[in-house]
Amino acid sequence: MTRASSMFQLISEQTEQRPYFETGGIGRSHEFYTGEEQFRREMARIYGRRWLPVDHVSRLKEKGAYSTLNIGTGSVLLLHGDNGVQAYHNYCRHRGYKLVEEASGKRQSLVCLYHCWVYDRNGKLKSYNGTYFDHFFDKEKNGLLPIRTEIRYGVVFITFSDDAPDLDESLGEFGEFARVYELADLECVQAKDYPVASNWKLVAHNVNESLHFPTAHKDLHRITDFDDAGTYDLKGDIVGAWQSIRSGFNSVSMTGRSGRAPMPLVPEADRQRINWITILPNLLFGFTSDYVMMQWVWPESPGTCFVRHFWLFHPSETVKDDFSHEAVFALWDKANYEDWEMCERTHRGLSNPLWRPGQLSLDEEVVSQIDAWVAAETAGPEDGRAAAPGAGSALPLDPAAAEG
Ligand code: FES
Ligand SMILES: [Fe+2]
Repeated sequence: MTRASSMFQLISEQTEQRPYFETGGIGRSHEFYTGEEQFRREMARIYGRRWLPVDHVSRLKEKGAYSTLNIGTGSVLLLHGDNGVQAYHNYCRHRGYKLVEEASGKRQSLVCLYHCWVYDRNGKLKSYNGTYFDHFFDKEKNGLLPIRTEIRYGVVFITFSDDAPDLDESLGEFGEFARVYELADLECVQAKDYPVASNWKLVAHNVNESLHFPTAHKDLHRITDFDDAGTYDLKGDIVGAWQSIRSGFNSVSMTGRSGRAPMPLVPEADRQRINWITILPNLLFGFTSDYVMMQWVWPESPGTCFVRHFWLFHPSETVKDDFSHEAVFALWDKANYEDWEMCERTHRGLSNPLWRPGQLSLDEEVVSQIDAWVAAETAGPEDGRAAAPGAGSALPLDPAAAEG
């Protein structure tokens, strides 16, 4: 690993003094990756309490556009209504039928297929079955239950909690990367979900280090240099690293070459780099000069998770008749399957109760940072904080308050 100044002025130079390497990492144990109690704490204190990035606005552009996302055992529905994008709990208010199964689409009203209650694009109940209701039923109080929703830099954020840590403070210096790569204006041209049979943190580790590129990803290794890389020291609940693209290539894709123009605000020195920035806990951005990737890992159980991967391009390119993202998608789709195999096999290895953590190298600094952050968030005694779906909790929002 080499050390080099970043083009991003606000990012301070790192020092060689890092606590992680003395211990081989903070919080790392068999239980930390496989335990039910640790998982329950993560769902309650991280996924149930913090602002979570859930989608990109380009997928929800028009009125009536929707997307869904499973978080724990719950499901969230994002709907573009008359006042912009709003998140709701994705179940019918009548008897709890999961309202929308599809990952995304567009509809002006949502019909529950069980007893035909119908909601409009603002989550309001429009019509219902069951005439006996008429005497006492208040339609206004039976709309979809909203979830707190905010948008920053084109990313939709939600929280199940009333006392989530401040979103802008958490995002810290992320905005500088978002500005340079024009994140809010990019177009998501492909989305794909992958099931993975491993603890979610092992996936977060994997996608945040390039030490495995030479052994695991021959296509990526041909184009990117794992040895010319470094770690950023970033303010906020974010971690990040950079990695150089080898000379002779101008795009991280199966061909390594692209006719796409570099995004205009990306500084010259960053055109031959990938900037890897993770919004903790679970969203990795791969910022390159001709496209941006968003890659989430969502926990399902201590030993299972799924990855949602978006590929975004500049609108000045996507409008062109000959626009194609095939070479980019081909590279990462193949690399993804290579990665999930490694994560799953690692999970099987450290599922042994006699597993002991090994020493991490300087190239794996972000691995340590992620674990240290999760360990800090989940440390300490029970405190009865709000819990996310999947943590066996009550509904995170009070229905009466939600209707107000
Ligand atoms: S559960 Fe939706 S209409 Fe009955
Ligand atoms: Fe990988």
